[in-house]
Amino acid sequence: MISLPRSVLIREVGLRDGLQNEKSFIATEDKIALAWALTEAGLKEIEATSFVSPQAVPQMRDALQVVKALGNPAGVSLSALVVNTRGAEDAIAAGVRELQVVATCSETHSAKNVRMTVEQALAEIEAIAGLAGEHGVIMRVALSTVFGCPYEGKIPYDRVYALVERLLALGMARVALSDTAGLGNPLHVSEICHGILTRFPEGDFSLHIHDTRGMGLACVTAGVWSGIRVIESSIGGLGGCPFIPHATGNIATEDVVYLLEAMGVQTGLDWPKLLAAALLAEKIIGRELGSRQLALARGRFCVN
Ligand code: COA
Ligand code: ZN
Repeated sequence: MISLPRSVLIREVGLRDGLQNEKSFIATEDKIALAWALTEAGLKEIEATSFVSPQAVPQMRDALQVVKALGNPAGVSLSALVVNTRGAEDAIAAGVRELQVVATCSETHSAKNVRMTVEQALAEIEAIAGLAGEHGVIMRVALSTVFGCPYEGKIPYDRVYALVERLLALGMARVALSDTAGLGNPLHVSEICHGILTRFPEGDFSLHIHDTRGMGLACVTAGVWSGIRVIESSIGGLGGCPFIPHATGNIATEDVVYLLEAMGVQTGLDWPKLLAAALLAEKIIGRELGSRQLALARGRFCVN
C-alpha cells in the first residue's frame, strides 16, 4: 500500500540554479519581477541568488541588488547560495537570513565547481556555520552528485550516508539530496531516500532533481513515496549547472505541482498565478522553456 503525505513543500530554485546557466545577462529588474511573481503564486521558500565569484558565475553578479530589492518579505524565506566565507559575509551583510551552502560527493565535481577538495569544502562549511551561528542565520546545504557524477560515475551509498552525517553534525537545518547531473532513477532515489530517512530520522531532507534524462518526475514520485516532504524545482524548468556537461534544467515547478496535486498531495500554490510566473520566466529568458504545463498553457497541444 502506497502512502502519500497530505502536503509537500516546494522550494523554488529557478532564480539561482535556473538563471545561473543563462549565457546572456538577465536584467536585475526582471529577476526581481520574477521573484515577486513567485511569491504571488504562494511559494514560501525561494533561493533568490548566489554570492559567488562573478568570474565563476557572471549571471549572479547582481546578488546584492536582488537581495536589497526583495528584503525579507513576511512569510517567505529567501535564501542565497554561498560557497565560501567571503560569500557568506557579503550575504549576511546584505541582510540574507538563510544561507544555502554546497557540498558534493565527487572530488572532480568539487574541483570544477568550487576549486576545493570535498574536505576543504566541508571545512569552509564549518567556517560558514560559525558565522551563521553568530548572526542567527539558518543554514541549509545542497549535497550534489548524490545519484551519480558525470566524471566519476556511481557514488557509493555509504559515501552519501557519511557525508549526510557530517553535514547534520555541522548544524545544517536541511540537506538537499541533489541529482545535479540527472543520473538518478526512481529505484535509486527510493533506496537512497529510504536509507537516509531511516538512518537520520531527526534530519530534514529535500530532493533536488534535474531532468537531464527524462527521469525527473518519476524520481520526484519515488522520493515522495519514500518519505521526502520538500521538493526543489525551477519555474518553467529553467536551469542547468555550468560545471556539469550537458546539464539541463531542473524539473519544472509547475510540472511537479501538477503531479503532486493530481495525486491529492497539496502544495498550497495558486495554479493560475504559478502559470503566470512560468510564462513570465519564459518571456524574460526569451525562448521556450521545457515545462510540459507551459506547453499546454501556450495552447500548443490539444487537451482532449
Ligand atoms: N564573491 C565575490 N567574489 C569572490 C568570492 C565571492 N564569494 N569568492 C572569491 N571571489 C573572487 C576573488 O576575489 C577573486 O577575484 P580576483 O581575481 O578579482 O582577485 C576571484 O573570485 C577568484 O578567487 P579565488 O579565491 O582565487 O577562487 P578560485 O578562482 O579558486 O574560485 C570560488 C573559487 C569558490 C570563488 C569559485 O569557484 C566560485 O565562486 N564558485 C561558485 C560556483 C557556483 O556558484 N556553483 C553553482 C552552485 S552549485
Ligand atoms: Zn541543481
